[in-house]
Amino acid sequence: MTTLIATSRDYGALIKEDRVHSAIFTDEQIFQDEMERIFHRTWLFALHESEVPKHGDFKRLQLGRFPIIATRDGDGQIQLLINRCRHRGAQVCEAMRGNAKRFQCWYHGWTYDSKGDLVGVTGAEAYDQKFDPEQHGLTRVPRVDSYRGFVFASFDEQAMDLRQYLGATLKYFDIMVDASPTGELQVKPGVVNRTRYRGNWKQVGMDGYHPHYVHMSVFKIFSKRENTTGSAVGALHLEDPFADSSSSRTRGFEYGHACLDFRAQRRPHAEQSIEDLRASDDGRRYVEDMITAHGEEHAKELIAWHGDPHLGVFPNLQLIHDHVRVVVPISPGETEVLMYPVFLKGVGDSINEKRLRAHEAFYGPAAAGSPDDAEIFERTQRGLIADADPWVLLGRGLGREEQDEDGSVAACISDETTQRAQMQEWKRLMTRR
Ligand code: FES
Ligand SMILES: [Fe+2]
Repeated sequence: MTTLIATSRDYGALIKEDRVHSAIFTDEQIFQDEMERIFHRTWLFALHESEVPKHGDFKRLQLGRFPIIATRDGDGQIQLLINRCRHRGAQVCEAMRGNAKRFQCWYHGWTYDSKGDLVGVTGAEAYDQKFDPEQHGLTRVPRVDSYRGFVFASFDEQAMDLRQYLGATLKYFDIMVDASPTGELQVKPGVVNRTRYRGNWKQVGMDGYHPHYVHMSVFKIFSKRENTTGSAVGALHLEDPFADSSSSRTRGFEYGHACLDFRAQRRPHAEQSIEDLRASDDGRRYVEDMITAHGEEHAKELIAWHGDPHLGVFPNLQLIHDHVRVVVPISPGETEVLMYPVFLKGVGDSINEKRLRAHEAFYGPAAAGSPDDAEIFERTQRGLIADADPWVLLGRGLGREEQDEDGSVAACISDETTQRAQMQEWKRLMTRR
């Protein structure tokens, strides 16, 4: 049965309202089609503009099957260039990040500038006059757009407008950015937790059902630790945010975006968070600057929310707790996850230090949160390969979903509304002509 469905390429048949076929997590051909139909056609998160602040700064990244160099050019624009020499195809940049005004290909020495223009051809006299260097710059990703510093890319010239694609999730980006009193974030390309797990890319994140089980041991430890107010990870033990009796909600948005919405659950803790912050000079200044920037009511909300939108933007970005997470599919059974801690601009060092320590405590390589997630994703992948009874159930809470004013579908925190939103978008993109 599995083979029949997978080989018929009727991808619509693999996604039902309350279940999906496990072939979508394990099948090699489906993975290749995902690259073409999802990663090469929809919007992908590329980087945060603060990662390449100065002329010549660059960073390498992967978008679908394309290796990319993100640069800051001489006009201050961010360029996303395909890392493939226009002579015979070698990658022209191997360093992961740095500053360079030129990229010289190692194979035969052709040279490109930070705009991607071909500015040097070795032995150029051997080419006739028909050869036009202007036609042989590094290929640019056709669509690049950004929202509040988050830079997105699409290989599809006809892709919809980015703001339409992000829709109601824009205000969740604001939660992260407006945690800075100056409305600016600092993401450092070299400060990253890099994880590879032997599981499918669609496993990662936005599941409000698992924390009580996968993460119970780390929650128990956290409840005995010193106060970490000021960081979103610290907010985990404010009360149980993953109890269905709490005011936390799961949300599914158009185009496969999803979120675990803790705003209502965190809002009553604003006064306590402010009181804790006022115990230090940096904290007092932070509270004052937030009130000046946002007004008292909204500043209180923002402080209670800790800059944590807990948002998944389909297919490759998540804004979770104090970090930006990028999901990079390698193969059906292997995924890389990059987690960049987010620093707030315009705040005292101790505010960012606390956020970073809390991030490390849950997500760092020696922590107990992310390693547990990677382990369960690997166990899941091993189970999914055994597809004698191949349907994966995602029906939890289907009968208690509600349509919200912002267009999202909302339900209790443990409901699989998030996964259903992602899978329906997967189906839309995989069956689109
Ligand atoms: S492949 Fe780059 S110069 Fe020849
Ligand atoms: Fe987890």
